Amino acid sequence: MKRTAINLLIIIISIAILPRISSAQNNSISHKVDSVLNLMTLQEKIGQLNQYNDDLYATGPVTVDANKIAQIKRGELGSILNSQGTTRTTGWQNIAMQSRLKIPLLFGQDVVHGYKTTFPIPLAESCSWDLDLMEKSARIAATEASAGGIHWTFAPMVDIARDPRWGRVMEGAGEDTYLGSRIAYARVKGFQGEIPGATNSVMACAKHYAAYGAAVGGRDYNSVDMSERQLFEYYLPPFKAALDANVSTFMNAFNDLNGVPATGNKYLQRDILKGLWNFQGFVVSDWASVGGMITHGYVKNEYEAALAAITAGCDMDMESRCYKNNLAQLVQDGKVPVALIDDAVRRILRKKFELGLFDDPYKFSNSERETEALNNPEHAKTAREIAAKSIVLLKNENNLLPLSKKLKTIAFIGPLVKAVKQNKGFWDVEVPDTDSNFIVSQWEGLTDKLGKNTNLLYAEGCKVQGEDRSGFEEAVNVAKQADVVILSIGELRDMSGEARSRSNINIPGVQEELLKAILATGKPVVVLINAGRPLIFDYTAENATAILYTWWLGSEAGNAIADVLFGDVNPSAKITMTFPRSVGQIPIYYNHFNTGNPPKDDNDRFYRSAYIDLSIYPKYEFGYGLSYTSFKYSNLQLSKKKMKAGESIQVSVTITNTGKYEGEEIVQLYLRDKAASVVRPVKELRDFKKLNLKAGESKTIQFIIDKEKLSFFNQQLQWVAEPGEFDLMIGASSRDIKLNDSFELID
Ligand code: NOJ
Repeated sequence: MKRTAINLLIIIISIAILPRISSAQNNSISHKVDSVLNLMTLQEKIGQLNQYNDDLYATGPVTVDANKIAQIKRGELGSILNSQGTTRTTGWQNIAMQSRLKIPLLFGQDVVHGYKTTFPIPLAESCSWDLDLMEKSARIAATEASAGGIHWTFAPMVDIARDPRWGRVMEGAGEDTYLGSRIAYARVKGFQGEIPGATNSVMACAKHYAAYGAAVGGRDYNSVDMSERQLFEYYLPPFKAALDANVSTFMNAFNDLNGVPATGNKYLQRDILKGLWNFQGFVVSDWASVGGMITHGYVKNEYEAALAAITAGCDMDMESRCYKNNLAQLVQDGKVPVALIDDAVRRILRKKFELGLFDDPYKFSNSERETEALNNPEHAKTAREIAAKSIVLLKNENNLLPLSKKLKTIAFIGPLVKAVKQNKGFWDVEVPDTDSNFIVSQWEGLTDKLGKNTNLLYAEGCKVQGEDRSGFEEAVNVAKQADVVILSIGELRDMSGEARSRSNINIPGVQEELLKAILATGKPVVVLINAGRPLIFDYTAENATAILYTWWLGSEAGNAIADVLFGDVNPSAKITMTFPRSVGQIPIYYNHFNTGNPPKDDNDRFYRSAYIDLSIYPKYEFGYGLSYTSFKYSNLQLSKKKMKAGESIQVSVTITNTGKYEGEEIVQLYLRDKAASVVRPVKELRDFKKLNLKAGESKTIQFIIDKEKLSFFNQQLQWVAEPGEFDLMIGASSRDIKLNDSFELID
């Protein structure tokens, strides 16, 4: 029953027009795969299931291995990670071509938010809600990376994340399952392109499967304990969306889920992914996570680790050597049937065939294409555009922003003003033989924007971390000479990212004290907050005149910030993760349940589901973000008030730009199922539209409500829409609901 319903859902969702391998091509690849498999010894088969790190650069603790070259020559390696550039990838492939069967190597790399051109960190990009642009940035990253021989990116990271203490929130699309799923789909399409195996594409990898984002306490690699319903409803859909976009690979995860490490989790990998969802690609482990199961206390040695992982459906072992050292023995001992190994090998060989590597193992490593791709000025233009669209305007008192380009004197103060590499954020790529520091600093961006008539003054003020206040005096003196102060503060780039969980997510060091000292001059202050996660900054929020949350914006950071500060781009981004008031308020997310004792407002906390010492509201709610203009929402109309399951309701709403500037608005549609067989969230994002309006212009937009938008996983894990009443809310954020109505689903 459960399977039938979910399978039906899968079929419905999968009727997307996607580039797929035709069934004739599929059959012919299957034949080719089998013909190679038939020639392979067990040792060579096991070899395909190993992935080792290259020697120059590592993204985890490496296993030192003096025999890598000899192993490749013996056909005992399937893939290498962290090898970039034509020279390096060609070098390794040459060695693979000396093996008996000449099976080409796959080169994988964390191309997370760009390759040479660095785009905003994925969390920042997600705040643009601009699916086309996100697809485009992934496309450009793929074009650059593939030209240097990379076949495969370990992205997108599609983990839903509700805890900003977790350092890896920077890698994903925030807290919402609906938006996260749409972004996952767009990013996979961007990386993989239209034609499977095209030389400007890379295979994508949906990670970390599964529920890694729900680590207890936001501590990286920590355990996850959750109900199956919660898993299906909130954490799995972005993976399913990646699959619907035809994602080639999945990566399992470091965490244990309900007591079973994801890497050895049969339910996740064999039952759901390869069974229920019929995934035909392959699953790679996370870095040494096969061996990591010993540390978890799930298995007692590498032999058992390899057994658990291969049985559970993990096809490739990244870096742990457990497969290499134990699979042959496991087969000999009758614990692992050869058929299981064959299945994993087939999945990997199939991808190598799809990429065309058997025809030409060097197909992707092409120095001419590499030079061209890495020097394409269009890439920087797109990076600038999406960076500007990722900046969130949190506050704009007295309409201080946009600043006039005619200002006489501006003081640009702060520890991040002249920083260069910081702007790249975590998970950047150091591309060999290129100037990978081609990054526009914030100082450069402003200098380029302003004419000679504006005097731009600088003081560092303080460092990001530490107690040193000795630079305050100079900063205050500089501020006194200026018409406006811009203060650039925040985290350092590597304070968020993998293994970068923090218990204190306030703006670090004495940076807010510096702001206080500057505000004492009476000058208006625009604060730029650079970060990889939602930070806590009460003082700044209350006292700064204007705040732009700039995240880490990548190569074009300085230009994008200047574009927004001076109004060449009107900010339109809206946050995709709730910003808490304090660490004690975490986890806090907009789509919570109502509970039996909900507070009405901040004056209603007696015997309520609330803290008695803290507002019930977050600092900034999901979907929040301002613009230099203002928008009016009017004329909400529903085509009907009752619908049957096979029908739909057309919802229309008019948005008018009532301000002075042209701008973009992200109109959000939320639903609430009033009473159901399991309690439903107070609201859930079910659609959105981003539209551009000139000053004074009005547009009427349409949404369609169908059964799919009303559905959820019931207690039997069936995907159902239950008859009853639904609230419909149209908002500028999850809290700022502008218009609402209700309708009924009838039998
Ligand atoms: C560990 C990380 O969890 C994963 O996301 C990454 O792809 C691998 N290391 C390889 O760098």
